[in-house]
Amino acid sequence: MRLSLADISALKPELNEYGATELFQWIHARFGSWSIASSMGAEDIALISLAATAIGPENVKVFTLDTGRLHPQTLQTVENVRNHFGVAVKVFFPLSESVEALVNEKGMYSFRNSIEDRKECCGIRKLEPLKRALGPLDAWVTGLRRDQNVTRTSIDKIEFDMMNGGLAKLNPIADWSANDVWDYIRDNDLPYNPLHDRGFPSIGCEPCTRPVKSGEDERAGRWWWEQPDSKECGLHGKE
Ligand code: ADX
Ligand code: SF4
Repeated sequence: MRLSLADISALKPELNEYGATELFQWIHARFGSWSIASSMGAEDIALISLAATAIGPENVKVFTLDTGRLHPQTLQTVENVRNHFGVAVKVFFPLSESVEALVNEKGMYSFRNSIEDRKECCGIRKLEPLKRALGPLDAWVTGLRRDQNVTRTSIDKIEFDMMNGGLAKLNPIADWSANDVWDYIRDNDLPYNPLHDRGFPSIGCEPCTRPVKSGEDERAGRWWWEQPDSKECGLHGKE
């Protein structure tokens, strides 16, 4: 059953104190229908492992949004995750007629033209499929962390996701640093996207992601032509 905004506000103080394992046990007990959203980046690999360890891989469901513009290494990581963890991974694609209309009207790289055009592409390739993925769910789980970007500093471990129709959104590693994620991956010898070893701390679509230079912010390579405060594709709105 879905939780109301009031329920979620009341749960925040307690759930913000939970570690990831405890939070996955709580999610499993509380929600009939929930899933991890995975871009197959390092955070999401850690999440899937934490969930599988906490409640068993047979109880873990993962979905991924294949925008049609991902790196081949990311697609290979989907398969590696299926094989390594034994969890179900459901793939959502954008509607072919919407993609065809976009590229036939504006070309293959319309997202470079303006923030509006970039958001239009993200809308077709990510947000519409996300709405379909979330429709039947009571809750979704993400790998968002507070120190990833200026837009993420105040996220809670449970939030009311109004933008996506009013369901619970859980962020079990909100308080982890990038180092915490990598320590966990290495300690547990987990498979990860090889692009992380080629200078990509954060991985999205191939034409909208580039490696970062030393000293640059970890999301500096995402939509690098935009300012930091516009760098959200819309998957993660405010309550
Ligand atoms: S994004 O909004 O800028 O693309 P980011 O790459 O930081 O997000 O990922 C944050 C979280 O959003 C991930 O941990 C994951 O839970 C979810 N997410 C991002 N991209 C996808 C995707 N393609 N499919 C499923 N979930 C995703
Ligand atoms: Fe389109 Fe780039 Fe957004 Fe991917 S990240 S959906 S290619 S604008």
